Amino acid sequence: MKNNLVDELKRRLVEIAHLNTASSLLHWDREVNMAPRSIDSRAATTAYLAGLIHNKFIAVDSDGLLKKLKKQLDSNKLKGGDAVIVGETWRSFERERKLPEKFVRKMAEVTSKAQHIWAEARKQNKFSLFKPWLSEIVKLKREEARLVGYSGSPYDALLDVYEPGMTTGNVSEILFGLKDFLVPFIRKIKSSQRAINANIARGSFPLDKQHAFNESIARKIGFDFETGRVDKSAHPFTITMHPQDVRFTTRYRNNDVLYSIGSTIHETGHALYEQGLPAEHFGTPLAESISLGVHESQSRMWENMIGKSKSFWKYFYPKLQKEFPVPFMRISLNDFYNIVNFVKPSLIRTESDEVTYNLHIIIRFELEKAIIEGSLEIKDLPAAWRSKVNEYLGLDVPSDTLGVLQDVHWSGGSIGYFPTYTLGNMYAAQFYSAMSKKIHGLSNKIAKGDFRDIKKWLNKNIHQHGKTYKPNDLLVKVTGEPLNSRYFCDYLENKYKAIYKF
Ligand code: CO
Repeated sequence: MKNNLVDELKRRLVEIAHLNTASSLLHWDREVNMAPRSIDSRAATTAYLAGLIHNKFIAVDSDGLLKKLKKQLDSNKLKGGDAVIVGETWRSFERERKLPEKFVRKMAEVTSKAQHIWAEARKQNKFSLFKPWLSEIVKLKREEARLVGYSGSPYDALLDVYEPGMTTGNVSEILFGLKDFLVPFIRKIKSSQRAINANIARGSFPLDKQHAFNESIARKIGFDFETGRVDKSAHPFTITMHPQDVRFTTRYRNNDVLYSIGSTIHETGHALYEQGLPAEHFGTPLAESISLGVHESQSRMWENMIGKSKSFWKYFYPKLQKEFPVPFMRISLNDFYNIVNFVKPSLIRTESDEVTYNLHIIIRFELEKAIIEGSLEIKDLPAAWRSKVNEYLGLDVPSDTLGVLQDVHWSGGSIGYFPTYTLGNMYAAQFYSAMSKKIHGLSNKIAKGDFRDIKKWLNKNIHQHGKTYKPNDLLVKVTGEPLNSRYFCDYLENKYKAIYKF
């Protein structure tokens, strides 16, 4: 039976979605096209739009429509997509209405200034510049947790925005277990006799040729250029105006073509998720991604599990060699594969390999959790950072620029975000294992450049559901069990034991 109240809710949500589309396009334009001195005027426009969107969202219930629907939901009168739309809209509404407009404005103001200060502090290697701002942000985030409410740790209330259903306790347990696996595993890799010289893959790669090569990969693995586009920006990102208008960016280095290829495949993974959301439900939770962790599982699966596999390069390496004969004609496929998967602890998270990357995340999670819970003071943060990097990665941190000041997240108020990167890696391994049982001859297909079944499988099992399932429920539905770190550890073990021969 058709539910007219749900139809009215959808109508209101689509109006808000149009505003979000406009706001996203302004964001994309700021990162891709805008002149540097236009930044203040653009900030004013986007802040105005953000307020408008917030107010319009609260007004969805001005006549009690959402509350009426919530009652129907609670008495099991809504089914299927209707139940998802009402349940998820209610979830967001509950959170938003607990935050007073004054608080929302204060947070926006502090974080937009703090990002600027953070960039300066990083440039000057001066944590003391950023310290009072970080203290203010942490104070606000604790206030946010208090306003929203939580039962265990205040960190729960922050994590929940990014990874619904996941608790601080769950994440601690998962990441603690992973650390126990990774630390000795990386030690074995470091003491292996196998020497890989990644520098031989450096060269001079004209940007237009890099761009064309990257586009050809994105197209081949399934990105639809009829409903999306690719551009260049300092920090790669994917942004969606609508499932039929999905854009991503890539970054380039003149001397390292692998740098842009990695980021292109990663963002293509995100973009395929967005293009795979059901366009007919635009504006509703049925056309929105589940969580940052599941989103990241899509990018990491393509970037690492597929994009750094031997099969993938069996297909693409001859093309890369043809496009860039120097230096690749002199490097064998085997050596190239080892270079792509070279493991080396690095001070910088965004430049690290898929193994040590997770220790960077564990460090950030442990520190931000301690700060939010109040067991670590901001003034002790740089020293705590150095000591953890030394303990987990075996590196000395020579400066705060290469240490605690390297990431933008905290300055923008994104606390509780970091764990989703590693959760994404773990989800990816578990999804991939389930997928490889369903697609006959998967690695042969990859080696032939046939990616159609992968895209189809991801569309059907993950993308098309929108927010229908919570991350863990989706894992159970698709893989038959909740999150299990064994899949990720097995994946790393199989791959790197073969490369490093231990
Ligand atoms: Co990503």
